Amino acid sequence: MVSKQIKSKERVAEHGEVFTNEREVNAMLDMVKQETERIESRFLEPACGNGNFLAEVLNRKLAVVKKQYGKSALEYEKYSILALSSIYGVDIMEDNAKECRTRLYDIWNKAYTKQCKAEANDAAREAANFIIRHNILYGDALTMLRNDGKPIVFAQWDLVSGNKMKRRDYRLDQLMKGHDSQMDLEMLMGGWEFDEETQAWIPSPIKEYPLMNYWEVQDAIES
Ligand SMILES: C[S@@+](CC[C@H](N)C(=O)[O-])C[C@H]1O[C@@H](n2cnc3c(N)ncnc32)[C@H](O)[C@@H]1O
Repeated sequence: MVSKQIKSKERVAEHGEVFTNEREVNAMLDMVKQETERIESRFLEPACGNGNFLAEVLNRKLAVVKKQYGKSALEYEKYSILALSSIYGVDIMEDNAKECRTRLYDIWNKAYTKQCKAEANDAAREAANFIIRHNILYGDALTMLRNDGKPIVFAQWDLVSGNKMKRRDYRLDQLMKGHDSQMDLEMLMGGWEFDEETQAWIPSPIKEYPLMNYWEVQDAIES
């Protein structure tokens, strides 16, 4: 019988697919505990499997959202979506990425429905689903290409004012280059900016979307 950590011997041999157990996940996340408990702190797991790490990051963030905003359904909704929107993953196996999406959605939706009761609504659920589909992708984290050969692109979601959310799309290869390289011609000509906090060059977004209510992000059209 195949254990919970392994789907098949072939997948272990071909993709190094061995899932991490809960105790190890928690021990590793405890090493960056403060960040896992910061609602908007962004996490990217480049070989996320079916989401063992990302699911626990989401659990931790949602516990903080409940503690800070649990008294108001509207505030809980907004900040739980912000928490979700900060979690990113890539896996080369489509079934893993799909399982990860479903898992994150189920965690979020269960907590949301329990917390917001009659005020829980399908517009927020649609937005959450949409964000997850853009944040958890299947592709190759080494070449930074999707399985269809196009560059991996991630959306950055920022709560800007009140209920408004801003979406900007970035290419993963450019984001990584900004962390690893000195200023070069591409950065200079492309208007990249140096970010003091992360000590990295930030590329220009490849797409920007108008400010939308966070429950309507799925309706935004590129501006
Ligand atoms: C050791 S498993 C870890 C999965 C998950 N991070 C966990 O701890 O449970 C490695 C994962 O990396 C994925 N993988 C292998 N090569 C990859 C690549 N080049 N890009 C993205 N994912 C890859 C596999 O499909 C597998 O899900």
